Parts: sequence; structure tokens; C-alpha cells
Amino acid sequence: LLAAVAGAALAEYPEKPVTIVVPFAAGGPTDKVARDLGDVLRKQLNQPVIIENVGGAGGTLGAAKVAKAAPDGYTVLLHHIGMATSPALYRKLPYDTLNDFEYVGMVNEVPMTLVGRSTLPANTMPELMKWIDANKGKINLANAGLGAASHLCGLLFQQAVKVDMTTVPYKGTAPAMTDLLGGQVDLMCDQTTNTTQQIEGGKIKAYAVTTPKRLTSPALAKLPTLDESGLKGFNVSIWHGMYAPKATPKAVVDKLNAALRTAMKDPEFIKRQEALGAVVVTDARTGGAEHKKFVEAEIAKWGPAIKAAGQYAD
Ligand code: MLT
Repeated sequence: LLAAVAGAALAEYPEKPVTIVVPFAAGGPTDKVARDLGDVLRKQLNQPVIIENVGGAGGTLGAAKVAKAAPDGYTVLLHHIGMATSPALYRKLPYDTLNDFEYVGMVNEVPMTLVGRSTLPANTMPELMKWIDANKGKINLANAGLGAASHLCGLLFQQAVKVDMTTVPYKGTAPAMTDLLGGQVDLMCDQTTNTTQQIEGGKIKAYAVTTPKRLTSPALAKLPTLDESGLKGFNVSIWHGMYAPKATPKAVVDKLNAALRTAMKDPEFIKRQEALGAVVVTDARTGGAEHKKFVEAEIAKWGPAIKAAGQYAD
């Protein structure tokens, strides 16, 4: 009888709207990925897809909310590399990254750019390095809190240039961008999904990209990499994945995964992502088990780098 009931429930799933929790403020890069994805998933799932922004604590509040949500497939998390960096940043996370979620699959990979306020008196990396040297102790670096992608990149950047900056945390890099545009903060390391348009519009200064190779998009191709600018080996790319609460029925997770894989092949989704410098994942990591293995490796990779940079939240 139970199997029949479960089967019947699955046959209907989803029979009501599905909520994607975005653990950052609306308008930022994570939100952008979720909304673009939601536009495609709603076709696959034949139900409305609602985006719920739950910002704060570098994405860990939103992740915790989904870890505790009903395991019925109607509340999922769209998160990123913060899943792998938060275990090294928080002495006690309100969830276990690997065991409190069912891993639905991976979505994309996104490069980052080092950007500054338009009034910053430096236009190139060499000029920026001189400015940083001359302004030690007075530099404000924006991020989206401990566990954010912008936090990870900013932490590694400070370590590479050996200059501690005052970090100003926001609930996402959309509000952070507002202050950068207003000149309230000096620098930020953020995903191309959020910086490309502002760079093209000349509203912020762009200094470098965080990937080992230069980008190909017209707006960003001229930017040097941080590696070629002297920060040898600098290599940060942000990835996004989807997660459901632990104990969500496998058949429901499989249905979500199938919808995700189809979305990864959707020409419109790919076009929107590529226009902002993101690369849609089409390899095995779109599988839940493979993405979980990938996250496990990322936890092992970023933990030591973060501890070496010596930053903890209590
Ligand atoms: C991050 O820094 O983790 C993200 O850019 C935050 C966001 O998506 O707003």
C-alpha cells in the first residue's frame, strides 16, 4: 500500500509550485542563475517555480532553511561554492553539507572579476597594486558575507597581495554593487554575471579576471588574469548546484534531476548564461552523485586555503 501511495504521489509530483531558495539577495549572481533556471524548469515541471531570497551569513541561512524544509521536493536550494567553503569558515554550521541534503546536480561555472569604484585613481592592475600599497589600512572590500563566493575571492586576493582590507559584508552582491556604484566601497571580487553589464556601461572599473585563462566575451577579453598580473596561480571559478532536503524521495530527486539536465541543454538558458560569462555544465556532474563527489573534493580543496588565510566566523 505504501509503495502504491508513494508511487501515486510521485506520479503527481509536482502537483503545486516548486520553490527555489536563493541564499542571497535578489538581483545578484546566484539569484540570476536561479531565475534563468526557473524559467526553463517551469516548462519541464509544468508548475510555477517560485524564487525565495533568504540572504545572510554568506548563504548559510538560506542553506539551513532548506536543510530543515519538508523533504517533499517543493523546496530546493540553488547554491554555489559556498557549500564547500562554509565548513571551513563556521565553527558550527546549522547543517551538515554532505549529509543534510540530497544532491540534485550541478548547473554552471562562472568566472569572477576584480572590480573597483569608477572614481578609483587606478586603471590597470599595476596601477591598482600601487594604489593598494599606498592605501594600506584604508581600503574597503565588499562581499556577501563569510561563505560567499565574493568572500572567498576577496580573502584569497588579500592573501596574495599581503594587504588586509576592511571587508564590508552585504546580503548579496547586488546590494554590494549598489554601494560600489555609489563609491561607498573601493573594491569587490564578483561573478561576471553581476559585473559584465556594469563594466560594459563604464560604471565600474575592471582590473582582472580570476581564471587561469583570459575570458573570450567582448567586454572582458581585454582584462588580464590575476595570474599574469603577478598573483601567480590565482584561480577561482564559482559553480552553482541544486540541493533538496535529506530524505526527499529518490524518485522525486530523479524527476528534479531530469528536469535540470533538460534545462542544461535549453538553447535559451545556455544563451543567457553565456552572455554573462557563465558556462553551463553538461558533463557527468549534472548527476546528483557526481555533483556530491565534486563538492566533497571542493571541501577538501578550499578548507586548507581558507584556514591558511586564517579567517573564522563564530
Ligand atoms: C556571492 O558572492 O556569493 C554571490 O555573488 C552573492 C550573490 O549571489 O549575491
